[in-house]
Amino acid sequence: MKKIILSILSLGLVISQFCNGQQLIKNENLDKKWWKEAIVYQIYPRSFKDNDGDGIGDLKGIISKLDYIKSLGVDVIWLNPIYGSPNDDNGYDVSDYKGIMKDFGTMDDFDALLKGLHDRGIKLVMDLVVNHSSDEHEWFRQSRSSRNSPYRNYYHWWNAEQGKPPYRYSLFDVNHDAWRYDSLTNAYYLHYFSRKQPDLNWENPKLRQEVYDIMKFWANKGIDGFRLDAFQFAAKDTTFPGFPKGFEKNFNLYYGVQGNLHGYLQEMNKEVLSKYNVMSVAEGAGNTNEDAHNMVDADRHELNMAYAFEAVDIAKKEGYSLIHLKEVFSKWDSTFSEKGWLSIFLANHDQARLVSRFGNDAQEFRESSSKMLTTFIMTMRGTPYYYNGDELGMTNAGFTKIEDYNDVATLNEYQHLKSIGGDLNKFLNQIQFSCRDNGRTPFQWNDKENAGFTTGKPWLQVNKNYKTINEEAQEKDANSVLNYFRKIVKFRKDNPLLTYGKYTLLDKNNPDAYSFTREMDGKKFLILLNFSAKLTTTNTGINFKNTTLLLGNLKKPSVDGTLKPYEAVIYQVN
Ligand code: NOJ
Repeated sequence: MKKIILSILSLGLVISQFCNGQQLIKNENLDKKWWKEAIVYQIYPRSFKDNDGDGIGDLKGIISKLDYIKSLGVDVIWLNPIYGSPNDDNGYDVSDYKGIMKDFGTMDDFDALLKGLHDRGIKLVMDLVVNHSSDEHEWFRQSRSSRNSPYRNYYHWWNAEQGKPPYRYSLFDVNHDAWRYDSLTNAYYLHYFSRKQPDLNWENPKLRQEVYDIMKFWANKGIDGFRLDAFQFAAKDTTFPGFPKGFEKNFNLYYGVQGNLHGYLQEMNKEVLSKYNVMSVAEGAGNTNEDAHNMVDADRHELNMAYAFEAVDIAKKEGYSLIHLKEVFSKWDSTFSEKGWLSIFLANHDQARLVSRFGNDAQEFRESSSKMLTTFIMTMRGTPYYYNGDELGMTNAGFTKIEDYNDVATLNEYQHLKSIGGDLNKFLNQIQFSCRDNGRTPFQWNDKENAGFTTGKPWLQVNKNYKTINEEAQEKDANSVLNYFRKIVKFRKDNPLLTYGKYTLLDKNNPDAYSFTREMDGKKFLILLNFSAKLTTTNTGINFKNTTLLLGNLKKPSVDGTLKPYEAVIYQVN
């Protein structure tokens, strides 16, 4: 009987696939998955909430805010690295992959945090930093101790008697040199990031097994996913050919998605990811949308989703073009429209603040532009990743002195410029807009000392505007940026078409407005966003008589396509 039912079912499937004589291609993106429907909230643990008064955020601090996190309506927390680390790059230099950073607490705290999240129906995604480790990791200590160490091949070494190794650019090194000479064994080791972040050798099967073992350790604890940090750089051509002059201007082309990267990802999927109900996301995902797609095409059995980076990079400088931003987001959406999945984000701990980069942090527009940008993130196809503090519309820090900064990339670049007689004032001006520390200042909980973040001295200065921009004040205001965030999160959860529905860009040459539709199963939403401080009209070709207003960020939402500065509005098209 069971067999007969199965045959009828599969016959039905075959018929439906060949109806009208045409083979219908299945759109895999309509396959329901929890990680597609999730809204991810990123917590930068160092800056979220300090419980023990040492000025550094910690796990107990996060635990004390679990009800706040729940109140946001988000489904998943992504934590930046919380492992043992000397903190050269704030945890992205791991010295103990199975232990908790002392500043952050203990494994008991971690277990309590995981339980507290799960009790509230919230999942936890952890950062997996395995393109490199810390130079203080035991593997590296052993590796550098002798050329004959069994750990020598865990890293990339170049013996000095071969001469100087071919130039490799380093992102964080004071001299931009990714090879560091070590006299102990008369050899150079490779570090794409800082000197304290030596690159791991993925060609070594033993190293790969160590990584899978680490992943299993956390997956067995019950975590719900991994964010693969900088993993596009993990595979290298270890014959180290010379690269053309000036390659560092586009180093991704030479460093990203090389060699056997896809082989490693397939192995990782087989050994770990496929065995657990975990999601996986590629941070750096290559140079192009196609590169990124190859890492997450479900048929290839690698990862689940990739960050849409190209668009975020557009706003690295002030005065970016919205037409360009629209083009890039639309191109990426189209690459991922049937297979593979994107994570949608505009800000994180590596960027300046959302509202200061893409919106307008002047008093008049801070609230409206924050809400507009949140509307964008919550209405695109893909899984939204939202960075802590943006739900309050926190702004750039505006530090003026190099002593105020902490970020290793910024401090080392400053030293580099100083050593070559570069323009330090120009650099200070630039970083005021773009430095990662802008997004890392302590979370603003209230208007008390240190914004309620710590009773000690904060590791990074609190933004001076905490008296007016803080969580406590926004709780009391029904129209606050925070309460708008909650509203739009719920709106997305209530409308699956915002997760799965088709995206169509409208009015593409409008320099100020981003207009698009999302549609599924005969239901269609129109989303209009004014990214400028001007009044603007968007021509979408849709007759407003046939629309119903669903949500807007201003008191009197537009009813005819004329948008006030930073207005965001969502309609149903009837
Ligand atoms: C990307 C991380 O997001 C960033 O914070 C870090 O500095 C680099 N990878 C190196 O791990």
